[in-house]
Amino acid sequence: MKQIIQCQLNGKPTELLIDTRQSLLEALRENGLTGTKEGCSVGECGACTVLIDDIPINACISLAVRAEGTSIRTIEGEAVAGELSPVQQAYVDAGAVQCGFCTPGLVMKTTALIEDLKNEDSTSPCNLSRDDIRREHAGNLCRCTGYQHIVDAAINAVNAAQK
Ligand code: FES
Ligand code: FES
Repeated sequence: MKQIIQCQLNGKPTELLIDTRQSLLEALRENGLTGTKEGCSVGECGACTVLIDDIPINACISLAVRAEGTSIRTIEGEAVAGELSPVQQAYVDAGAVQCGFCTPGLVMKTTALIEDLKNEDSTSPCNLSRDDIRREHAGNLCRCTGYQHIVDAAINAVNAAQK
């Protein structure tokens, strides 16, 4: 059954035509937002990570109809006026992108982590270790990079955000 849902999509009030049996990933991609990638389709690889009300979720195992009334953020909303977001730029600067299939999901996951740290009621900077980053990224798989540059990118982005 087709249905229109209303949501904020990358900050804009949006009506999305969806099928009620469809995953959010399918609905986003059918509506032209193909930056969010489909890897495993069963919630294991994180390629489809988007933020719902600023919380990272796997869009492949979330029903589109449940996004009614939420704020959805996808990779398409991160660059502003042609300028990469600080997290996107950190991934580029660290050489953390090879085929790029995992990158949108990882950028969204890192973005949510940084926003979480900013929202924490703390005046002292939070020094995350490389293992902390690996734990935060545990649901996001990369088949190319060996992860070292991804961890570099995330650490650099976290540190830059706290200056
Ligand atoms: S495509 Fe969603 S977790 Fe793999
Ligand atoms: S860069 Fe290819 S899967 Fe991560």
